[in-house]
Amino acid sequence: MKKVVLAYSGGLDTSCIVRWLAEKGYEVICFVADLGQGLGAGEDLDLITARAKAAGASKVYIKDLQKEFIEDFCIPALKANAVYEGKYLLATALGRPLIAKHLVELAHKEKASSIAHGCTGKGNDQVRFEVTIGILDPKLEIIAPVREWEFKSREEEIEYAREFNIPIDVTKKKPYSIDRNIWGISIEAGILENLEQEPPEDAYMITKSPTQMSSYAKYAEIFFEKGVPKKIDNKSYSLKDLIVYLNEVGGLHGVGRADMVENRLVGIKSREIYEAPAATILQLAHRELESLVLDRELAHFKEMVSLKYSELVYYGLWYSPLKESLDAFVEATQKHVSGSVKVKLFKGSCVPVARQSKFSLYNKELSTYGKEDKFNQQLAEGFIRIWGMPYQRKV
Ligand code: ARG
Repeated sequence: MKKVVLAYSGGLDTSCIVRWLAEKGYEVICFVADLGQGLGAGEDLDLITARAKAAGASKVYIKDLQKEFIEDFCIPALKANAVYEGKYLLATALGRPLIAKHLVELAHKEKASSIAHGCTGKGNDQVRFEVTIGILDPKLEIIAPVREWEFKSREEEIEYAREFNIPIDVTKKKPYSIDRNIWGISIEAGILENLEQEPPEDAYMITKSPTQMSSYAKYAEIFFEKGVPKKIDNKSYSLKDLIVYLNEVGGLHGVGRADMVENRLVGIKSREIYEAPAATILQLAHRELESLVLDRELAHFKEMVSLKYSELVYYGLWYSPLKESLDAFVEATQKHVSGSVKVKLFKGSCVPVARQSKFSLYNKELSTYGKEDKFNQQLAEGFIRIWGMPYQRKV
């Protein structure tokens, strides 16, 4: 019997996939990755396991990958200031290569010859899963049932689940397609497909509407060491607790929403909204600290790297040689990114209001307009003449 490892979420699609693969003669092993999507504890996990088993899975693995996700994926992206098309902090895109890596490891452990996932044929995630699996073990067969099966609607899937007694919770039909992890939430489909319409408030899950909020501001001073956030307001946190905390306070102040039309890898433009309070705050604070400690040339060059880095993450090329080489560059830039930035969260906005670092290149004696000025203004004349010389034509 051929064995397949399936990326299982516990939802309707992947539950039908379990049965569908079993009907095709596969032994199905389910893998549930916990990236902080709110799986819950004991009971919830038992429920997911029971559902997968009822659908026909022989085994179910549930693994908490949050620590690895944060340390090896979110933090490198933070150091790189990776933002896709100026708005998307890449939460979903960062999670896929990690899940794929664990699917491959499990396939090896279980001696499975195939890996299956529940992505559609129109999205980016199929690409990210399959490219990563292909890089890590090109011999594994990849099955994407949703691209090839016969079901045309949710109703047909529900019918199929009923037929095979798969316990599915069909009461709460969610009007959106949602992908969530600790770094952020991606929300699409349904009414969001109408570009000319503002997203309804109920589409947002963790950020409060700025209009509903009281008019007090919240300050948070974030302390970084070599580009990694360590403390908030002088209190040390584990990375996970720090992100959870910032998601909470950021969400309360409506920070971290994005509404965008993005260019998908498969050539489609799509409208998606995002919520990423912690990632937004951290990214902003991180960039602010860099503005203090990186010299101009390094800072400007790094912006180009950030742009490329975000594309590589979005394109599913996490394990590519270019992305890994850029990581080495980015790591080198973080040598002096230590210090703190105070941000002000207020009615949906997050702005840096104070910053400090022992590696600061800011020199008040040079920049001041006051009387303690040490900048030799006479030198400016010669500098400007030589600087502009190459551009002066005689005729
Ligand atoms: N557009 C985002 C990306 O490609 C998120 C994809 C998943 N979104 C969703 N709502 N299920 O990374």
